[in-house]
Amino acid sequence: MADARKIYSDTVIDHAMNPRNLGEIQNTDGFARVTGPCGDTMEIWLKVKNDTVGQATFFTDGCGPSTASGSMITEMAKGKSIGETLKISRQDVLTALGGLPEESEHCALLAANTLKAAVRDYMAMKREPWKKAYRRL
Ligand code: FES
Repeated sequence: MADARKIYSDTVIDHAMNPRNLGEIQNTDGFARVTGPCGDTMEIWLKVKNDTVGQATFFTDGCGPSTASGSMITEMAKGKSIGETLKISRQDVLTALGGLPEESEHCALLAANTLKAAVRDYMAMKREPWKKAYRRL
C-alpha cells in the first residue's frame, strides 16, 4: 500500500479499493461494452429519465486504474443531462482522480469511451425503441 501511495493519488486508491456503482442494471436504458487496445473491457449501464442520467453503473475486468476510472466516471455521469454526459472526457476523469501515471492514462480513456458508447446506445434506443425487443440486456 505504501508503494501504491507513491504512484497513485488518494482518490485513485479509494475508488480502486471501494468502487462506486459496481454491477449491472436490469432493463437498462443505455449499455455499452468496450475493449481497449490493452485487451481490458469495460461495461457501463445507464438508467435515464427526462434525458438525465439517474443511475450509472460499471464493470471492468481491467486493472486498478480502470476500476477507479469506471467508479469515478459513473459518479460524474449521475445527475447530468445526456448532452453533458457525452462531453465527459478522458481528461475530466484524470482531473477528478487527481491524475494517473502516464502509462495508465488510457484506462481513463477506456472509461470515457465506454460512457460515450452507452449514451449513444441510449440515444439510438430512444430513436428506435422497437430495437429494445432484440436486446438481451
Ligand atoms: Fe487495461 Fe488499465 S491496463 S484498462
